[in-house]
Amino acid sequence: VTTAPVGVLVPAAGLGVRLGAGAPKALRELAGEPLLAHAVRGLRAASSVGPVVVAAPAADVEPVRALLAPYDVAVVAGGRERQDSVRAALAALDPAVELVLVHDAARCLTPAGVVEAVVDRLRAGAEAVVPVLPVADTVKQVDGDRVVGTLERASLRAVQTPQGFRRDLLARAHGLPVGHPHDAAAVLPGAAPPAATDDAGLVEALGVAVTTVAGHEEAFKVTRPLDLLLAEAVLEGRRRAR
Ligand code: C5P
Repeated sequence: VTTAPVGVLVPAAGLGVRLGAGAPKALRELAGEPLLAHAVRGLRAASSVGPVVVAAPAADVEPVRALLAPYDVAVVAGGRERQDSVRAALAALDPAVELVLVHDAARCLTPAGVVEAVVDRLRAGAEAVVPVLPVADTVKQVDGDRVVGTLERASLRAVQTPQGFRRDLLARAHGLPVGHPHDAAAVLPGAAPPAATDDAGLVEALGVAVTTVAGHEEAFKVTRPLDLLLAEAVLEGRRRAR
């Protein structure tokens, strides 16, 4: 486990509704190239990364395979929810791989250093690892338009990806039969535990400790139109720094 290659699951099957009308998010262009190509190239820049499985929109599996041909990745059809996509990708990952990262395609500019920080902590024995950043805004709980509480900002963290896990733990968190990752029946939607917006949330629900490492501002998730402008600016900054 300590030096073996790490597998990466890339959920990339979201429609990107919050970005506005257009192609599925992973295929939107950023500096002339689909987001997903940026994301996979970034992963390949991290030397610890071994097998990569991308969950693409079901209607776009073939074009995504063609797009990613230079990067030696497997492409499977994603599902209706992000969790379904992660489970489909996990079921397609080489069963010998024991450490797994889950990385949002939408965090397409994540520096390799963040990937390596998560892997280092996993290899050092952590069962689950998430990159985090302090929260800039004050966060309140609301009921409709009424504020019902204010969370203490100093104790809050915004959570990014890649999130790293021991493979058996991730499989258990997603309701997959551990040791039988190719059991197709297990990846039918609805077989997983209650919805969570990230994989670590599922692991926390099992009562397993999750460790944090420092995230990075450039690992932000492209979600809204403004994020595309920010991503273009980050790429331009990197280009000028070369
Ligand atoms: O919707 P959200 O911003 O949480 O999506 C995070 C990542 O999960 C994106 O990379 C998106 O493509 C992926 N996703 C997926 N399958 C879905 C929904 C989202 O792979 N059904």
